[in-house]
Amino acid sequence: MSAAPDLAGKRILLVISGGIAAYKALELIRLLRKSGAGVTAVLTRSAAQFVTPLSVQALSESRVYSDLFSLTDESEMGHIQLSRAADLVVVAPASADILARMAHGLADDLAATLLLATDTRVLVAPAMNVRMWLHPATQANMAMLAARGVAVIGPDVGAMACNEFGPGRLAEPAAILTAIAGLAGAGKLALPAAASAGAPLAGRHAIVTSGPTHEPIDPVRYIANRSSGRQGHAIAAALAALGARVSLISGPVAIADPIGVDVTRVETAAEMLAACQAALPADLAVCAAAVADWRVASAATGKIKKTPGAAPPALSLTPNPDILATLSAAGPTRPALVVGFAAETDDLLENAAAKLARKGCDWIVANDVSPASGIMGGAENAVHLLTRAGTETWPRMAKDAVAERLAARIAAHFAEG
Ligand code: C5P
Repeated sequence: MSAAPDLAGKRILLVISGGIAAYKALELIRLLRKSGAGVTAVLTRSAAQFVTPLSVQALSESRVYSDLFSLTDESEMGHIQLSRAADLVVVAPASADILARMAHGLADDLAATLLLATDTRVLVAPAMNVRMWLHPATQANMAMLAARGVAVIGPDVGAMACNEFGPGRLAEPAAILTAIAGLAGAGKLALPAAASAGAPLAGRHAIVTSGPTHEPIDPVRYIANRSSGRQGHAIAAALAALGARVSLISGPVAIADPIGVDVTRVETAAEMLAACQAALPADLAVCAAAVADWRVASAATGKIKKTPGAAPPALSLTPNPDILATLSAAGPTRPALVVGFAAETDDLLENAAAKLARKGCDWIVANDVSPASGIMGGAENAVHLLTRAGTETWPRMAKDAVAERLAARIAAHFAEG
């Protein structure tokens, strides 16, 4: 079991909509409070049929909102303010009804109104009967919401309260908490393209690689590494927030997609390279993925069996393509700026400088990933930025802050022409 995320100081606005899964929102509130987050809950009218405002209030230790037209609520905190005072808006469980109202921009109760008014990113955790989930109307609504940058967790597949089986169960509260941790620090919603016309990276296309790769040994086993994808995803979000169109090519990660970013999910290094090449042309590329250096030369097509008394199978490895070096190679589609990462446990700066020369990229972000640094999988990073002009040492800061500073440096680079 991984450690609980640290959400100290984060403010989560939790919209609870109706459905049998609403009781699981109580467990989510408990986990959020344990992680240090402040929780303000809003109940739809039907949610209040499944959980009592009093139990939500007791667990969240905060007042619960439920009625758009309550004058007391309006005088204490208007719905616009309520929707914007949060770091993240989470709808859990999200019923078919609230998803439809979100997709179509309705504002017929407090929950729907603040979801329309918010400038904060939104995570939805759908939960409903399997037929309702699979209905083309719900699927079309989900596609619309995803295109607008709403992040989604679940639904899980399993037995339903209505005795049917399939997708529709609310994601587990612990999984929702992990998704929240991945999103809560990433700042305000990236403005839609029309609104970002004057943004520093408007009109630029960025490719970002993130996460590990999984290299199959056989259909059930693979070689991987400990990358969480947090730094790469934060960079994708930061570039999008500055107006760039971002293609994020991500290996398997347990964190939510950043808002306003086009995500392609891949497993292997070969797939990651192909997805990057398919995303070209681009003005810039940031290769933050921890690509496996080797893959099994010929992965078995069936599960490799343990034969009692026999020697364990030998794995014959072959090098993976180097995505950073491939993107950096001169040619008509080479992005104007290619940024690589150097994660090292020893001789950080020498190794990073050698990598800058060897890979042919323009900048290297170097970081110390020795176990003592706590950086791999953690929330913070301490980096050096190596450019052809020299080396900058940045103070240790949150991975989101590293991403914002790097995005700002990239924007300044393009502004200088
Ligand atoms: O060689 P090394 O793995 O240390 O280089 C790290 C940098 O190269 C990172 O930017 C990583 O994303 C990139 N890389 C890559 N393809 C590989 C190996 C590394 O893009 N096969």
